[in-house]
Amino acid sequence: MTDATTARPPVRKAVIPAAGLGTRFLPFSKAVPKEMLPVVDRPVIQYVVEEAVDAGIEDILIITSRHKKVLEDHFDRLPELEDQLEAKGKTEEAATVRDLFSLAQIHFVRQGEALGLGHAIGVARNHVGDEPFVVLLGDDIMAPEAGVLKGMIDAYQQHGSSVVALMEVPKQDISAYGCAAATELGDRLVQISDLVEKPAPEVAPSNLAIMGRYLFTPTIFDEIEATAPGVGGEIQITDAMATLLQRESMLGYTFTEGRFDTGKKGDYLRAVVEMALARPDLGPEFRTLLGEIAAREGLSGGS
Ligand code: G1P
Repeated sequence: MTDATTARPPVRKAVIPAAGLGTRFLPFSKAVPKEMLPVVDRPVIQYVVEEAVDAGIEDILIITSRHKKVLEDHFDRLPELEDQLEAKGKTEEAATVRDLFSLAQIHFVRQGEALGLGHAIGVARNHVGDEPFVVLLGDDIMAPEAGVLKGMIDAYQQHGSSVVALMEVPKQDISAYGCAAATELGDRLVQISDLVEKPAPEVAPSNLAIMGRYLFTPTIFDEIEATAPGVGGEIQITDAMATLLQRESMLGYTFTEGRFDTGKKGDYLRAVVEMALARPDLGPEFRTLLGEIAAREGLSGGS
C-alpha cells in the first residue's frame, strides 16, 4: 500500500450504471425502469444519487438505455409544475421538485448495447477522464447511517488504491455475487488478493461478496477494454478488477448492514419498510400500523 502522507486528488465524480432490463421486476419493469420503483415517495435512483451527493460527489454520470428517458425527466426542471405549486402556496412541494435539478451536475449517456456491467462502466471513460471515481449500482440502496461510500472515499484518501464494498453472505449465496479473497487489515479494511465473479460455493475463495459500491483509479478503464466476455457472456467489472489487481493494490471496505438490493422483490419490500420507519414524518404512524398487522397475523416481535 502507498503511504498516507501523499496528497490524493479529491473524488468528485460518480458513475451510476442503470441500463439493466430489470427482468426480476416484470411486469412492473415492462414500461417503467426498475430504478424508478418508489421507496416511500422517492424513486430508488434518487436515494442512490443522494448517497453520492452526501459523500461529497459533485458530478454524476448515469448510464442508461432505451426506454429509460424518465430517469432524465426525474432530475430535470419542470417549471410548469413548480409555478403551479408556488401559485397554490405549496412552497415546500415546489422546492422538492426544483431541488432535484441542483443536487449535483447530473449527466446521462446510453450504453447502446447490453454487454455487461464492466462495459457499462467503460462507457464513462471520456466523461471521467484521469480522476479517481466511484461507481454506485443504480438499484442498490445503502442506508445513510451505514456510511459505506464515505468510508470508502476516506480509505482511498488514506491509501490511494481502489476500494470495493464487501459484505459476508452465507456461502450458498456467494454464486450471486462477485467474490473476494482477502486478508484482514483492521478498521473495516481488507487487502484483496483475488476476485472471482459468481463462483460456485464449492470453489469460492471466501464468503465475502461485492456489494454495489466501487471506488476506482482511472487505470480500471484500460483493464475493462482488455476484458473478454465472462460469466453470462457479459463483460464483467469483477474480471477487469481481477486483472487490475496484478498492477495495483486493491482494498475491500467491509460492512454488515444497511444495504438493500431493490432489484430483488424481498429486499425491495424490506427497503420500503425500513425507509418508512426511519422517516420522522411517517415512522411513528407506520410503526403502529406494522404492530397492528403483526398482532393480527400472530407474528411475534423480533429483536
Ligand atoms: C453485479 C456484479 C457482482 C456484484 C453484484 C452486487 O451482479 O457483477 O459482482 O456482486 O452486482 O449486486 P448482478 O447483481 O448485476 O448480477
